[in-house]
Formats: sequence, structure tokens, C-alpha cells
Amino acid sequence: MSDQTHLRIPGPVPVPHKVLMASASPMINHRGKQFKEKLPAVLERLKYVFQTKNTVLALTGSGTAAMEAAVANLVNPGDPVLVLVGGTFGQRWANICNAYQGKVYKLEFPWGQGVEPQLVRDFLLKHPEIKIVFATHNESSTGVLNDIEAIGRIIRETQALFVVDAVSSLGGVMIQTDKWGIDIVCTASQKCLMVPPGLAFLSVSQRAKERMLEVKSPRFYLDLKVYEDMLAKGEPPYTPNLANFFAIEESLKLIEAEGLNQIFARHILMRDMIRIGLEAIGLTLLVEEQWASPTVTAVRLDLMNVDEFIKELRDHYGVEVAGGQGKLAGKIFRIGHMGHTNPLEMLTTLAAIESCLGRYGQAVAAAEKLWIKRSSQ
Ligand SMILES: Cc1ncc(COP(=O)(O)O)c(C=O)c1O
Repeated sequence: MSDQTHLRIPGPVPVPHKVLMASASPMINHRGKQFKEKLPAVLERLKYVFQTKNTVLALTGSGTAAMEAAVANLVNPGDPVLVLVGGTFGQRWANICNAYQGKVYKLEFPWGQGVEPQLVRDFLLKHPEIKIVFATHNESSTGVLNDIEAIGRIIRETQALFVVDAVSSLGGVMIQTDKWGIDIVCTASQKCLMVPPGLAFLSVSQRAKERMLEVKSPRFYLDLKVYEDMLAKGEPPYTPNLANFFAIEESLKLIEAEGLNQIFARHILMRDMIRIGLEAIGLTLLVEEQWASPTVTAVRLDLMNVDEFIKELRDHYGVEVAGGQGKLAGKIFRIGHMGHTNPLEMLTTLAAIESCLGRYGQAVAAAEKLWIKRSSQ
């Protein structure tokens, strides 16, 4: 098998050629004139993808760095916070809040189902002391897309701040930071933004900035006030991942040229092709249509050992999918369809899966039919 696998995991995702080339640019002085223009310009352009007028900051680190920064800057020891958990990434919020000694309340939802906004309302009515609600937009461990707009509407009826992990959705799925009232949105470079891993981004509202001034939790590298103050001078506080800055300039060009609406439609089409194809060959999807993520699809595999299937798919077909995490380990496999991917690649992915399972033709035919139908609409 060639060393070029088809990466169909929920990130990192394939990086477009121009973006990769840009990431190989010669290094520059991160305190020099060129970067003083580049840093604010990139963060300003990212506001389009975040759909926000709030400040956008960059950290050198992965998505979890942005998540930890949100907690370190907003949560004092003993602060009551609510975490909405339906998979490993929701649980990660709870783990980070525990590490910062918040008083953590969890509302748990079955893995494979979305957050029920009404239950959030009921909880917040009973617990008006909650200071912050943490949620996951796209729960990558299950392939569930949560209704952040509806949850945001409820949170705005209270005094609580709203913090959202959009690591596997921002740039592929609609998220309207300002309209939906989200105080901090966290994301990372290696998913829908189509850049190698190594940069994390956050948008920060005025309310969140005000709260940060009152929070005493220890922080240094992740102190967001320092990033904001330095940004006013066009500089990062510490040496940033310059290669990824060159890369994201190119990927933003691609995003701006395609346009967010077209990008969202492409992701929904890819999701629907994968779902219709898998069902056509008799596989069971973990998530019902109403919660189905446009960027990750989880599939049950009852008749075969999942790890063996994943290995076979990789070794014989060069298609790399991901296994289950946490309590879904060994029960599901997950297909990533985000960022630099297109409908044709959904057909090849389905063809490999059905061939690997010894079931031929129906998945591709069903998905292709859907693709043609959508293209002619
Ligand atoms: C929804 C979600 N949140 C957080 C993360 C953590 O990001 P990272 O691995 O970049 O730290 C991931 C990574 O897969 C994710 O999918």
C-alpha cells in the first residue's frame, strides 16, 4: 500500500497543497515588521469564520490549550459551573474544570444523543448560582452536533457565561458566535481550518474579558489578557507557530473563495452521502438524523471486530478511519469528513468500506444518486 493514506479521521485532516507549501516558508522575525502586520490581519480574517466581532486570539498549542485557557481565565476555585457531557470531549471540559477546582455540575446525555436544551433550562432554573456553562458544539467521539443556538438562547436568560468547544466544527459547520451569544469559542488549526496541528484560536467577548479580571486562578502561558495586550502592539507574547501562520493565510484564502455557506452545504452533503451509503449496506449509524454531525460519522460494527476492520481498511485500501473512544471503544468506528474533502472522496471511502466488508456496489450507488440529486438542485 502506498504511504499516502486517505485520512478519514476526525482530525488532523488532509492539508491542501498550497497550504502545505506555505507552511514550508522561510522563518521570519516574530517581532519584526512582517509579523506585526500578519498577526492582526490573520486574527481579523478569522472573525468571518467565527462570525464574530469579538477579539480572536491565537495560542501555540492544540485545541485543548484553548479549552484550558478558557477555564484558567474564567474559573476561580469553588466557582459553580455546568458542563454538558455526551462524550469524551464534553467530559474533557469537566476534567479541566475539576483541575482548576471549580464546583463542577454535569448534565449527562446518552452518548450518541444531543443535549436537550429544555433540561439545561430546568437545571439553570434550579441552580441560578451557575457562573459558566461549558458545551461541545460537535462531539467528535460520537458524531453528534449539538444545538448551540437553542442552548445559547436559554443561557442568555441567565447571568451565566457560555463557552463552546467548536474544535471539530468551526469552519465546516455554521456557528454564529455573536448571534448565539457565545462568550468564548475554542477551536484548533487541524480540523475544518485545513492546517497542520499546532495553533489554537479563541474568540473572547467583552463580558468574558471583564470576568477574567476578577479570576485569580494561576496562569502564565495561558493568560489571555497578556495575549490581548500584546496584540494591541501587533505582537504575540511568546514565539508562535509561524509555519502554521503562513499556512492559515492560505487556508483562509480557500475558505473566503468558497464562502461559508457553500462550505456548510458541502459538509452536509458529505454527511448525507456517508450516512445513506452506510445504511444501504446494512450498517447501523450511532446517531439519529436530528443530531447527525456534518463532520464526523460514527458507525456500529456488531458482526466484526472493529480494530481488525480498521486495520484491514488501512492496510489493504489505504483508508484511515478512527476507532471509538471511552465507552464506545471497540464498538464503533468513526469517519471524518471535514475540511479539505469532497463528495468524490466520500464515494471512494464508501467503496473501500463496502469492499472490505465484502458487500459491493450499493453504498456507492446510493451516495452517488444523492450527490447527483443535490448537484442539480
Ligand atoms: C470536539 C473536540 N474537542 C477538543 C479536541 C481536542 O483537541 P486537540 O486534540 O487539538 O487538543 C478535539 C480533538 O479531536 C475535538 O474533536
